Amino acid sequence: MNELIKKLEEQQNLKSDEMKWLLENNTPELRQEISLRARAVAEQTYGKDVYTRGLIEFTNYCKNDCYYCGIRKSNAQAHRYRLSQTEIMACCKTGHELGFRTFVLQGGEDPAFKDDQMVEIVRGIRKEYPDCAITLSIGEKSRESYQAFFEAGANRYLLRHETATEEHYRKLHPRALSLRNRKRCLKDLKEIGYQVGTGFMVGSPHQTVENIIADLCFIKELNPEMIGIGPFIPHQQTPYQDARPGTLEETLLIISILRLMLPKALIPATTALGTIDPEGRELGILAGANVVMPNLSPVEVRKDYALYDNKICTGDEAAECRVCLSRRMESIGYEIVNNRGDHPNKKS
Ligand code: SAM
Ligand code: FES
Repeated sequence: MNELIKKLEEQQNLKSDEMKWLLENNTPELRQEISLRARAVAEQTYGKDVYTRGLIEFTNYCKNDCYYCGIRKSNAQAHRYRLSQTEIMACCKTGHELGFRTFVLQGGEDPAFKDDQMVEIVRGIRKEYPDCAITLSIGEKSRESYQAFFEAGANRYLLRHETATEEHYRKLHPRALSLRNRKRCLKDLKEIGYQVGTGFMVGSPHQTVENIIADLCFIKELNPEMIGIGPFIPHQQTPYQDARPGTLEETLLIISILRLMLPKALIPATTALGTIDPEGRELGILAGANVVMPNLSPVEVRKDYALYDNKICTGDEAAECRVCLSRRMESIGYEIVNNRGDHPNKKS
């Protein structure tokens, strides 16, 4: 076996120059070897189970202007929508009937959803579905807001750090956003007691191997429960419309590396991975991921939550999405399970 893969599995980390070697020698043989180890490590904790989360994209309004993102505020062509509390509850009802036990409420940073309203929405879901986990993914907030959502019943929070390198952060975001505040948010979320997810886009504009190594170091140190890794895909109405997309091969390698670095982490095979390759999500699971996130948003709004071009699953019924993913997982010997799918060290 490749010595570095062996070392990574044993020590759950590598020196920067060793990590660089892995990232720069991404051959099919290396990927085959590392994904086999990553799969074996994932199976020690999760067996053949794949956890599932029902994704509810409840608003595509955003006050931010991230240069890579299709729903950034400067995209005047985006058709904007927000779901009402009643519509969100209807998505949860459908999801619960389909077997989902985790709901992910994701959206742009929409000022129309004030804290009080988010608290009410979270409370409503908590009351109706006490057996479910509630995950929020609504961006940067104050510690007080995060605390209020947690007390209302939210258990998990997804906030990708996007890049751990200041200089790179500046190339992806306007001045109003800072890496410092992003890290402050992640720290607050951890301290409050959320299961926290972070991550980054693979192949984002101007990303270097050194940036990726810094991202891996940051994730190792933060020790999040969840890690979201997907390829960057350009969106036609953004400043990075002509940037090259991230590749399947690099994303798969990084998923495997992260599985070996954080053996128990919850790692999704993302929709973006399924968008750059028809079998991307299956390959993601085979590279060490153990979560899928089918879309539960109403069919009418799905195409409007367009973070990048050609996003998949914008036409399916919720039920079809779940059936389709179950079939896909079965085809590679894995099984979607109907439980909350908590991190093994943290069941709150
Ligand atoms: N507003 C919340 C936030 O900022 O965390 C959640 C929504 S945001 C759209 C969710 C994630 O989508 C981001 O963290 C980013 O990594 C990803 N994303 C945005 N634009 C993308 C693109 N063009 N390609 C791939 N992923 C993208
Ligand atoms: Fe706000 Fe993308 S710029 S979600």
